[in-house]
Amino acid sequence: MKKLISLLLVAALCLTLTACSDNNSNAKKTKNDRLVIGFAQIGHEAGWRDAETADIQWYAARRTDTIELHFADAQGQQENQIKAIRGFIDMGVDVIAFPPLVETGWEEVLTECKNAGIPVILVDRGVDDSIDDSLYTTMIASDHVWAGEQAAIVMENLLGGSGVVVELEGTVGASAAVQRKQGFDSYMAANCPGIEIVASESGDFTLDMGKEVMASLLAAYDSIAGVFCHNDEMAMGAIEAIKEAGLKPGEDIKIVSVDGVKGAFEAILAGELNCTVECTPILAQQIFDTAAALKAGETVEKWIMSDDGVYTADKVTQELVDNRAY
Ligand code: AHR
Repeated sequence: MKKLISLLLVAALCLTLTACSDNNSNAKKTKNDRLVIGFAQIGHEAGWRDAETADIQWYAARRTDTIELHFADAQGQQENQIKAIRGFIDMGVDVIAFPPLVETGWEEVLTECKNAGIPVILVDRGVDDSIDDSLYTTMIASDHVWAGEQAAIVMENLLGGSGVVVELEGTVGASAAVQRKQGFDSYMAANCPGIEIVASESGDFTLDMGKEVMASLLAAYDSIAGVFCHNDEMAMGAIEAIKEAGLKPGEDIKIVSVDGVKGAFEAILAGELNCTVECTPILAQQIFDTAAALKAGETVEKWIMSDDGVYTADKVTQELVDNRAY
């Protein structure tokens, strides 16, 4: 009997060990087969950014059998993004994706990615033109120059071609700010002799800064007819400042911004914002599909451009607000 019990115990142990080793080999196999991607997010400067993060995390969480996402939050610091990217290189991820906080200062770390043979996807913002473009593989982003131009065309119509305009810029040195400004200012300079841009200051893409800068501009200039905000978050701040100054946003001062978040559509319905030019943060599917293609050795386009729209008051309905994903 003792012998039988011993034999049964040994058999049970063997079965357990086999099961464990199977699990281990499955785990390894699954891990090796999965697309391992490192994403170095900028931080939380706006609801837009949180929507981008949520989309990426939601998308990956539903596909853990095929995707292994390593996500880092750089808390608004370029050095933290660089540190996170170096961590992903050490891990040996398949692909690295990140939105460059600013356009410059990436050569060294991008060279390290290239030397490690890891493709890089720039997301929602680009790097300076002077950077060797072989250092990144592709960019998935909106056309920010186009957005600035569209904003200018709408502002020109709202003002009937003349008036004093101020500009609330995004983060200093961020491509989304540099290029939106370029598009807006160039269009105005070439087409609108009656419109004068009297001031252009950074509100760092945040509501609080947008409000603060708008309040100081209202104190400095008494005839502001329009404000171009480089994102909706700053427009929300500008709306508050304009109200606190005893004026009606959207009427006394026309406001055009960029992003197309649900809150901006609500403000358009309320008559306090005149237009938002879309810049979608819903990029997860494109990011992961592109990363999978790169892992498979396929070639992808250098710039995968978002298909954005221009939302003036005549185009915004309650249904649009209700169905807005971000
Ligand atoms: O790079 C995209 C921009 O970054 C969005 O317009 C803005 O809201 C965010 O801060």
